[in-house]
Amino acid sequence: MKVSIVTVLFAATGIANIIFPFVQPHCNSSSGIGCLRGQHCLSDGTCVSHHITRDATPREDGRCGDDFDGAACDPKGAYGGCCSDHGYCGKTVDHCLVANGCQSGCTNTAVTSPAPQPAPTKASPGNSNSEPVIAQPSSTDAATGPETTDGTCGAANGGATCGDWPQGGCCSMYGFCGKSTAHCGEGCQSGPCARAPISPALKAAPAPKNVKPGSFKVVGQSGVPAMHAALMPNGRAVFLDKVEDYTQVKLSNGRYAYSAEYDPISNTYSALAYRTNAFCSGGSFLPNGTLLDVGGNAPLTWLDDTVGDGFKGIRYLTRSSADASINGDDWSEPGNELDTARWYASCQSMPDGSMFVASGSLNGLDPTVLTNNNPTFEILNAKGVTSGQSITIELLVKAQPYYMYPFVHLLPDGTLFVFASKSSEVFSVAGQKTVKNLPDLPGDYRTYPNTGGLVMLPLTADNNWTPEVVICGGGAYQDITSPSDPSCGRMNPLAPDPEWEMDAMPEDRGMVEGTLLPDGTVLWVNGAQKGAEGFNLATDPALEVLIYDPAAPLGKRWTTGASSTIPRLYHSVALLLLDGTLMIAGSNPDQMPVVAPKFDPQGFHTEFAVEVYTPPYLSGDNAQRRPTDVVLSTLSLNADSSTFTIGFTAPSDAKAVKVALYHGGFVTHAVHMSQRMAFLGTNGWKAGARQQLITVTGPPNNNVAPPGPYVVYVVVDGVPGVGQFIMVT
Ligand SMILES: *[C@@H]1O[C@H](CO)[C@@H](O)[C@H](O)[C@H]1NC(C)=O
Ligand SMILES: *[C@@H]1O[C@H](CO)[C@@H](O)[C@H](O)[C@H]1NC(C)=O
Repeated sequence: MKVSIVTVLFAATGIANIIFPFVQPHCNSSSGIGCLRGQHCLSDGTCVSHHITRDATPREDGRCGDDFDGAACDPKGAYGGCCSDHGYCGKTVDHCLVANGCQSGCTNTAVTSPAPQPAPTKASPGNSNSEPVIAQPSSTDAATGPETTDGTCGAANGGATCGDWPQGGCCSMYGFCGKSTAHCGEGCQSGPCARAPISPALKAAPAPKNVKPGSFKVVGQSGVPAMHAALMPNGRAVFLDKVEDYTQVKLSNGRYAYSAEYDPISNTYSALAYRTNAFCSGGSFLPNGTLLDVGGNAPLTWLDDTVGDGFKGIRYLTRSSADASINGDDWSEPGNELDTARWYASCQSMPDGSMFVASGSLNGLDPTVLTNNNPTFEILNAKGVTSGQSITIELLVKAQPYYMYPFVHLLPDGTLFVFASKSSEVFSVAGQKTVKNLPDLPGDYRTYPNTGGLVMLPLTADNNWTPEVVICGGGAYQDITSPSDPSCGRMNPLAPDPEWEMDAMPEDRGMVEGTLLPDGTVLWVNGAQKGAEGFNLATDPALEVLIYDPAAPLGKRWTTGASSTIPRLYHSVALLLLDGTLMIAGSNPDQMPVVAPKFDPQGFHTEFAVEVYTPPYLSGDNAQRRPTDVVLSTLSLNADSSTFTIGFTAPSDAKAVKVALYHGGFVTHAVHMSQRMAFLGTNGWKAGARQQLITVTGPPNNNVAPPGPYVVYVVVDGVPGVGQFIMVT
């Protein structure tokens, strides 16, 4: 689809002015483009706030207030009688308190009382396009009620106790029976509670500055809020967002684009169309290199009636290193759907070319309600077609309300590491069952809405592909007052008796995401020191790069890198680029984009600036020591230990070479789905020679490297050359 890039950027954004010389300071009165939210455009091209109540009649869709013709909310209706700052009817303190921006129907109840749970009261509200917030739980001891009949308990459930409930006798702070540390630990309401304060597991441990801290640079604009991202086989990044009432770019049909393709060479973007709302979707690559994006949320027809319901959506994006003519092609949606609705699903590409898709909310409603949880997985085949079965994973049942966007990694024996809340296991997809329960990770919650980050460290031929996972960061509850957790756990899930080895980051941090680098270190970026995931729920942005060296001894693994000046809060991403730098984009902590801090309750805003972080390995003199002229003997590699050669030029005093095979996967909400790296065996390095021709042994099987697109980085004395795409089959 041909697109017209809207150059009408808001004059209020200074960065936009610098990058786009075509900024029009005034709005277009026929299209309305050019004004901030809550404003409209007069015929003379100036923007004014609308404060005219035109029709107070409540709307069917639960929207209200200034942006919706002054519509009021029906207190007896499906949503609640208060109109929030963002124009949503509801009845939580976020909707009703004037201090929180309530526009109409406000009830100024005490700010200190815990927020009521947003219970779905309407018979069939269908779904929600907002994000229900799990309020800070109350941990009143309520051990006096009847025994549970459905596994719910505690103050919010009539004081029910767990009794002999099979999953366990502790009533969690969120009102679920179980026996994990999330149930019996901090906040436990009744039953055999341990009650010991278990967070944080370790205090932050100061770390020295890296000798080469690296540097940040703003390079462009993302076009759309960068909620999801992936590096495509044409070397460009794709950004994918939800349906919004503003982005920087429009499609030829006059609607805002919600996806963009970003070229890191020219630092320009172009718009991509999609047909179903990809809000908080999951993704991974098919074996043929096509990116699949799955699940999402309800349509927002009053904003854009060309985009449909995304709960079961399956979207394809095909790019190729060999065919530039398809660059810019839109997402394709041939019409096949997921078996079950999934909002916040996680994906993992599997050894046989299929795709594991797990978890999600069935309807976007309150995650603390049992019937909203989709605690299952389904398998899509190599063409992205579902097997039509959604099979329960008990761990996701037990993790409620922390079941969304679970952490998943394919282990080198073909099983999966699955982690949600504070608990994890080894799961067999073929056997449809848990193979091994792993010990709970001490500390706070680690997955949505208090996510930390997970990486599986690079697999190496040298240690026979032994897997180790590292999880860092997290938080205590879904509120802006939540502390964040500085601790990390590291474990080999396949060890006979796995234990978490605990470590601490240099600072408390939530929404922190880990990206593997081809020198074997891990960069942890983005997030905040206080708060949680959800709209306007985080503050104290964490701006510093944290560098983790897994090979260093415990206590000496962390150093700190450069700091950005740009907060990267909820809905931010980080992607390793072909040239070995890290692209950082996003931060859209608002329900709908706001382009200036004054429109955000915490003084943040939707961030369109794209930054590149240059890691230590390309800083200073290192930039001159990169291997160059890298030529692979093949662009397609069987995962059967077959060999190929790589020619390149290296500094004549270089000492050693490593070859990293990297798959960046699909990135969203600090979760890097299917990310993995393998260091391959090499032969033939000639000390002192500038012209090198080495023989590389490929991965032994598809458990180590499932089929799909990878990048080969040649790393000489720790400095990577520019990566080259290769397909693993
Ligand atoms: C203003 O919007 C109208 C309607 O979308 C469009 O036809 C026109 O070209 C726009 N004017 C400018 C100056 O962009
Ligand atoms: C990969 O397979 C999908 C599903 O069959 C198809 O839509 C897509 O065009 C294929 N991609 C390539 C690069 O052939």
